[in-house]
Amino acid sequence: MSIKAFLFDLDGVIVDTAIYHYQAWKRLANELGFDISEEFNEGLKGVSRMESLDLILAHGGLTLSEEKKTELATQKNQWYLELVSRMTSDDILPGVATFFSQVRKAGLQTALGSVSKNAPMILERIGMTNAFDAIIDGTKISKGKPDPEVFTKGAAELGVSPVECVVFEDAVAGVEAGKRGGMFVVGLGSPDVLTQADLVSPSLDILTVDEVLAKASV
Ligand code: G6P
Ligand code: MG
Repeated sequence: MSIKAFLFDLDGVIVDTAIYHYQAWKRLANELGFDISEEFNEGLKGVSRMESLDLILAHGGLTLSEEKKTELATQKNQWYLELVSRMTSDDILPGVATFFSQVRKAGLQTALGSVSKNAPMILERIGMTNAFDAIIDGTKISKGKPDPEVFTKGAAELGVSPVECVVFEDAVAGVEAGKRGGMFVVGLGSPDVLTQADLVSPSLDILTVDEVLAKASV
């Protein structure tokens, strides 16, 4: 089967916003009287805003009303927006620009697959909106990762089948989403964490499109 499209997660793959999500959630947890570790945060990556909040509250042993939860999620998002407000194209992760030029030369289509409702704004800030043929974000899906919806919708919008797609993900939930969607998944991070990925690399910086295509096409 030949590969026709690359589907990219945003936070932690294209731009290092994963750290800002973590900082904002940590601040919220601290205000509620407990802490969240980096290890715990691995389980939040790729998970929607409200589901992340539910996991954090369960971690702190708190049960709150829906009204209070909405208030806390809004507060976290305000802190997150403050953190990302100064971002520019300088914040694009190493290797992304080179990798995208190889993607275009190879004639592949591209889609963004992020459950973040802030994804379109982040893409605008870093000047990468036009790098994607399709953009699926948190406002276009009903189920977050690890459900495959965000990636199967991307494939559908590009007019390709899941087996013709490669997913790039930094999150455990995102890798699972790609695998459940029937796609080849490149995990960006540690092989000890991203155990379900078909191929793992620390960063896009040391990967080439040819290498990915060779591994995904067999
Ligand atoms: C991405 C991030 C998560 C974040 C989610 C929702 O998947 O990896 O950390 O919780 O998007 O983001 P949002 O910007 O809508 O709160
Ligand atoms: Mg991510």
